[in-house]
Amino acid sequence: MATKAKTVFYCTSCGNESPKWMGRCPACGEWNTMVEAPVEPKKGPSGGAATRPAAPAARRPQQLREIDYSQEARISLGMGEVDRILGGGMVPGSLVLIGGEPGIGKSTLSLQIPLMCSGLRTLYVTGEESARQVGLRARRLGGDDSNCLIFCETQIEAVIAEAQALQPALMIVDSVQTMYTESVDSAPGSVSQIREVAAALLRFAKDSGVPVILIGHITKDGYIAGPKILEHIVDVVLQFEGENRSSYRILRSIKNRFGSTAELAVFEMTGTGLREVANPSEMLIPMHGQGLSGTAIAAMLDGTRPLLFEVQALVSSAVYGTAQRSATGFDARRLNMLLAVLEKRAGFHLSAKDVFLNMAGGLRVSDPAVDLAVICAVLSSNFDFAIPADVCFAGEVGLSGEIRPVGQLDRRVQEAARLGFTRIFVSSFAKVEARPEGIRVVKVADVPALVKALFK
Ligand code: TYD
Ligand code: MG
Repeated sequence: MATKAKTVFYCTSCGNESPKWMGRCPACGEWNTMVEAPVEPKKGPSGGAATRPAAPAARRPQQLREIDYSQEARISLGMGEVDRILGGGMVPGSLVLIGGEPGIGKSTLSLQIPLMCSGLRTLYVTGEESARQVGLRARRLGGDDSNCLIFCETQIEAVIAEAQALQPALMIVDSVQTMYTESVDSAPGSVSQIREVAAALLRFAKDSGVPVILIGHITKDGYIAGPKILEHIVDVVLQFEGENRSSYRILRSIKNRFGSTAELAVFEMTGTGLREVANPSEMLIPMHGQGLSGTAIAAMLDGTRPLLFEVQALVSSAVYGTAQRSATGFDARRLNMLLAVLEKRAGFHLSAKDVFLNMAGGLRVSDPAVDLAVICAVLSSNFDFAIPADVCFAGEVGLSGEIRPVGQLDRRVQEAARLGFTRIFVSSFAKVEARPEGIRVVKVADVPALVKALFK
């Protein structure tokens, strides 16, 4: 008698398992995240649902001081910006996930790494393209391909067996959604397949010390397709993003067990692959100095690196009864708060105006230091008054209209001076020690003082 295949439901957001479907996950409270997945048989190398690597018999608990740190030497990948994002190169035995939308350049980036770093014996596993396609791309990218082996395979056990035999210095798997394991019945790309494939690769990486780069697709909502637990399994999550229209791409670290998560690198997609953009500020202020109203330059900090970019605003009379507010790359609620501050504390009547806000270069910004530039861009558009080209801003705006100091102001001031700005507006309460040549630090206490200094 045929028995019905057993299934469980689990949450794609937190991984919580349940025997029956629920509209809302009781563990994390997310709606519509439960998906059905077959119960994996206990046999098979991974022993079922465990995402934790099983310890071989030879492993014993160790004291901290007994641990061998000598392996910690980082592997340089030949692309300085990727090394920097990883926190100074790749850690042996680490599993790095690179996520991004289709066509953004994940395969290009991952193939470019071994080509730029010829000393690194690399196994490039592809489940998406034929060897010929990869070869054609490699030819386009140039570089030395003598140490790069291409392997077209989708069964993860075969991939790992090959890698164990070859012992490469680096393994790249493109992509997690195309790989499958024999130990689970469901189709490649399903939740349980993705989880098992990632767990198998993690075990391989930890046991052999070979670092693995895993490519993952991103769904329309911007999540890495598959369970959120994929992000929990891997050591590092990098997101590759960019606008379709622009040739610039941003590689952002979302999770990093070995370094900072606030780093960001900029690349430009060219006819011969990705080019590292060493000075992103220059790309983020392209229209600078054109005398346009509605733009202001913010000196934000991205991780440890100061970044100057353009905030754009458009304020116009509302066509319908209720005014529209829309923000791209900036928190819409924060925009509403800043508009309320302008209304209440500085007497600008913006409630009958549509306000659109955009961060240049497709950046997504969370640094509160951008507040001041947002306010200035809005006012500049409202008055149709262009802010002088040599002015930039770094300050947080509080609910009473006060301008608050922000962190690491010295770095921001230095970067602004380096790019040729002659005035930077900051909070009166800020302490600035750096006094680079050619830039004047203008201190303002609140929004009315800022308006007086700039627009009158
Ligand atoms: P790809 O790496 O295939 O994207 P993904 O793996 O993320 O799906 O890159 C796809 C795009 O990049 C494609 O539209 C062509 C473009 N491209 C270039 O512009 N220059 C190049 O040298 C290469 C290899 C690709
Ligand atoms: Mg690809």
